[in-house]
Amino acid sequence: MPQPLLFTPLAMAGLTARNRIVVSPMCQYSSLEGGPTDWHLVHLGKFALGGAAIIFCEETAVEIRARKTYGCAGIYSDAHVPQYRRITEFLIQHNSIPAIQIGHSGRKAACGPPWTNFKPLTEEDAQKGQPPWQGISSSPIAPRDDAGVPHELSVDEIKQVIESWKEAAQRSLDAGFQMLEIHGAHGYLIHQFLSPLVNLRKDGYGGDLKGRMRFALELTEAVRSVWPRHLPLWFRVSAVDGDGGIWSLEDTVSLVRELKSRGVDAVSCSSGGINGPLNYAIVPRQAGFQVPYAQRVKQDTGITTCAVGLITEPEHAESILQQGQADLIAMAREFMYNPNWPVHAARHLGVDAYLDLLPTEYAWWLKRREKIREISK
Ligand SMILES: Cc1cc2nc3c(=O)[nH]c(=O)nc-3n(C[C@H](O)[C@H](O)[C@H](O)COP(=O)(O)O)c2cc1C
Repeated sequence: MPQPLLFTPLAMAGLTARNRIVVSPMCQYSSLEGGPTDWHLVHLGKFALGGAAIIFCEETAVEIRARKTYGCAGIYSDAHVPQYRRITEFLIQHNSIPAIQIGHSGRKAACGPPWTNFKPLTEEDAQKGQPPWQGISSSPIAPRDDAGVPHELSVDEIKQVIESWKEAAQRSLDAGFQMLEIHGAHGYLIHQFLSPLVNLRKDGYGGDLKGRMRFALELTEAVRSVWPRHLPLWFRVSAVDGDGGIWSLEDTVSLVRELKSRGVDAVSCSSGGINGPLNYAIVPRQAGFQVPYAQRVKQDTGITTCAVGLITEPEHAESILQQGQADLIAMAREFMYNPNWPVHAARHLGVDAYLDLLPTEYAWWLKRREKIREISK
């Protein structure tokens, strides 16, 4: 039986992923002063032990005010560098590629975690030591009725924010990350510049598509200037957003063409986020609902794409690759359910050496158990 594509290595820039399985970024709301804790080492480490090729840390804030919550991850201080190094070294030791997603919440700052429905922080929180702070954005429009109005960035301030992305990329490199993704999706700062629903600027950072893309492109150039060529640079897009296609797949293709010409190697195709999740009637949440976005971006731009969103079954993941709809498969929630999903998928797809995805400390025992079962048949 031929090797499934899911378990065929993929070369990207100067790195080779051992298979096509990616752990998608998952905010944990468990950081301390922006830094990772033992939680992160165990949370991410178990995916490496389970055989995933590329493991993304959660969205990691490039500035202290870029966090959504007090528990959000950050890489805005040099003190964070050795804290992340502990994690990157562990992942590399177990044959996975440590990847970081850097981001800026913009106007979606100063709220509680998801289980509070991202409730904006109030005076009550201030009394408990967690005062709200003002978010920033392309235009002064609150993200929801109960949230504060963000500060509209001046052109000088935009340049400073771009500098903070560059510094965060340098720190990510120093911390040992080997892939870096710019978070341009889900209604966060970059998306707030891209979307005509939020970006009402009249200067060179607003207006037509070219103006609204400018922040994303300048920022990408700044990041690429410190992120070495041999290490892959990713960008996450919300491929469609805004009811009625305010941001369309055509817009995404135009953006990706520009990103590619600035040295972006791969695009992760998500959707929605400016005004909450995209209307379920427009984008039904069925298995692989965002795969067509990855397919279109790949076809039209030739860039490496990663499909994500309700992909849980090995055969489905394999068929996406076989049909050339995407080059990589990312999963988030399924990995929470089963951190050994790559082993499960390899067995399911008939990979003989599926146990070799596990470290010897586990593989030896499980192979032995198989032999014993074989003998006692
Ligand atoms: C707990 C949790 C945290 C998430 N955090 C992030 C994040 O930090 N950055 C991001 O781009 N997407 C984030 N996502 C979205 C996932 O990366 C993924 O795109 C989404 O969950 C769909 O994939 P799935 O159906 O395999 O879970 C998060 C999802 C979950 C469930």
